[in-house]
Amino acid sequence: SFNVGIVGATGAVGKEIVGVLEKRSFPVGALRIFGSERSAGKEVDTKFGRVTVELFSESSARECDVVFLAVDGDFSLKHAEAICEGNDGAVVIDNSSAFRYKEGIPLVVPEINSDATKGKKLIANPNCTTAIGLMAIWPLHKLFGLKKMVMSTYQAASGAGQPGMDELMEGTRSVLSGEREVAENKIFAHPLPFNVIPHIDKFQENGYTKEEMKVTWETRKICGLPDDFPVSCTAVRIPTSRAHSESIVAIFDKPVDVALARKALEEAPGVKLVDDIANLKYPMPLTATGQYDVEVGRLRKNIAFDNALEFFVVGDQLLRGAALNAVVVAEKMVE
Ligand code: HSE
Repeated sequence: SFNVGIVGATGAVGKEIVGVLEKRSFPVGALRIFGSERSAGKEVDTKFGRVTVELFSESSARECDVVFLAVDGDFSLKHAEAICEGNDGAVVIDNSSAFRYKEGIPLVVPEINSDATKGKKLIANPNCTTAIGLMAIWPLHKLFGLKKMVMSTYQAASGAGQPGMDELMEGTRSVLSGEREVAENKIFAHPLPFNVIPHIDKFQENGYTKEEMKVTWETRKICGLPDDFPVSCTAVRIPTSRAHSESIVAIFDKPVDVALARKALEEAPGVKLVDDIANLKYPMPLTATGQYDVEVGRLRKNIAFDNALEFFVVGDQLLRGAALNAVVVAEKMVE
């Protein structure tokens, strides 16, 4: 069994990592939770026993075999490499974007490129939107050869962590109770209740946001595609709680066959085909929330481009998009 450490276990992603470890069969020996001075000393009840949050230090984190970092990028940049250095260092799986674009650091969706972890101790966990979309894109890429991709997203408040979910809930309540006409906002750029916001993370020089460019950069790195491979995304925040939705147009090298595509998606690990329009069955946050599998549906031949498919994907941002991906990476590494 392995000693597992989590830094940031009380945040939205950290809590889900504990939950996924409890439900899956990763051989946890002891679970240690590290936090700041504010949370040190608090107690967390887990399937592995009651855990007292320890004040984080690099030396105590190094005593673990596997460490999950569910903290911000600045913390990861400062400590991640030191935690895994040398023979006695731990394997570190970092959920921030700090190392995702660095050469030599694998960015891993285990169903696609778990081999990239071989011989490595620091692994980057991908952006949630990218991880969710690639579950559907990868089996289709293997069949028809992806040539270009355009994605539009509908992202839940959970992407901004627990404070984002709280702001959505409290804001919605304040409007419905008549206390306010428009909800207050601190986390999102504008009030999210009864609104959609076409802006997630910082704007870049090319007019795209960082969230949109993450889909471009990370799709290329994870799928082993060239540095100029055409992927374009518009990322939009909507007032749902915790599953991200994506409308995807994928253009392929080869002619597409919808029946073959359906079969490949049915057989793909981590995918649940939900595509029965006669019975009004298609992917939705309502049904995908809390699930490990990404729902894929509304699959059809795109009528605007040759050799193109259009489909809708919904995945739980905190599970498949973060915690589950990280734990499955760890499982593959200790196999
Ligand atoms: N950046 C994502 C979002 C979450 O805001 O929805 C995690 O990658």
